[in-house]
Amino acid sequence: MSDVSVIGLGAMGSALAIALIKGGYAVTVWNRSPEKAAPLVAAGAVQAGSAAEALRASPVTVICIASHDKTLELLGAAGDAVSGRTIIELSTGGAEDAEALAAHLDGQGADWMIGIINAYPTGISLPETVLLMVGAEPVWQRCAPIIRTLGGGSARVGDRAGMIAALFAALFTTRQGFMFGMIYGGLVCRKAGIPLDVFASQIPVSMGVLPAYHKYFSDTVPAGKFDNPPATMTVYAAALDDALATFRALGAHAELPQLFSDLAHRGVEAGLDDKALTALVELMSRD
Ligand SMILES: NC(=O)c1ccc[n+]([C@@H]2O[C@H](COP(=O)([O-])OP(=O)(O)OC[C@H]3O[C@@H](n4cnc5c(N)ncnc54)[C@H](OP(=O)(O)O)[C@@H]3O)[C@@H](O)[C@H]2O)c1
Repeated sequence: MSDVSVIGLGAMGSALAIALIKGGYAVTVWNRSPEKAAPLVAAGAVQAGSAAEALRASPVTVICIASHDKTLELLGAAGDAVSGRTIIELSTGGAEDAEALAAHLDGQGADWMIGIINAYPTGISLPETVLLMVGAEPVWQRCAPIIRTLGGGSARVGDRAGMIAALFAALFTTRQGFMFGMIYGGLVCRKAGIPLDVFASQIPVSMGVLPAYHKYFSDTVPAGKFDNPPATMTVYAAALDDALATFRALGAHAELPQLFSDLAHRGVEAGLDDKALTALVELMSRD
């Protein structure tokens, strides 16, 4: 018997297994393509001959393969090997697939935590790395030492399986807002003849404002209080119009600034002109 099994030894699963071995756990590993287990065996892991064998080898199994639906397929094929075990599912997937997986595990008498990893494999085991998990509180209490070995800042954020996909969508969209902001920024700079290395070197000026944006959001949305903001919906709408006009004048693709401007104007037209821009969360969630 080992302490933890790891199923899925791709870039991420291998990093998870190494972190557990280094963290002092006795680890069993299994991967569909068996040759990927060799470096883990060299590092001290035991290689199981099948997924079912890996599940039976430890009270807790971490799974990190392509997606929740593949995990469900794999567990379905493993029969009753999962009964009485605890699954920590770290594959990516949508809300419906997460709920289906949890329902299968409940039906098999298995405990589960489902999570997202907010890091590249190189971030695994660092104290600041965060895995966000959902699942029952008592299961979290049992699994937290393992999960915090993978990411020291990890936390349980809810109990329903489907919540994790929504949280992933929210956090990924937040990051991608910045990513696509840079892409459109590059576009308008190129049209204006601004060297892209100049733009790239000045992006940290905008990054410096992000903590203040986060505070603006955190001070308003959670409490639903949008009065007396440091910049109102009207102020944002005007600035966004200026940015949009520049994109248009330069003939740059303007889908993103157009969206920003449209949304701010929608807020103004709804009577939120002197409120925080973030009041759009409430306005639009009524749709
Ligand atoms: N890499 C990252 O930065 C990162 C960050 C956060 C989350 N994740 C998530 O972690 C998961 C794994 O990502 P990765 O980067 O490790 O991918 P990867 O390097 O492409 O590895 C994929 C792994 O999934 C296994 N797999 C795929 N389909 C399978 C199936 N039907 N049955 C059994 N095993 C199957 C593969 O087995 P074979 O070796 O046999 O193909 C391999 O072990 C994904 O859900 C990903 O979204 C990754």
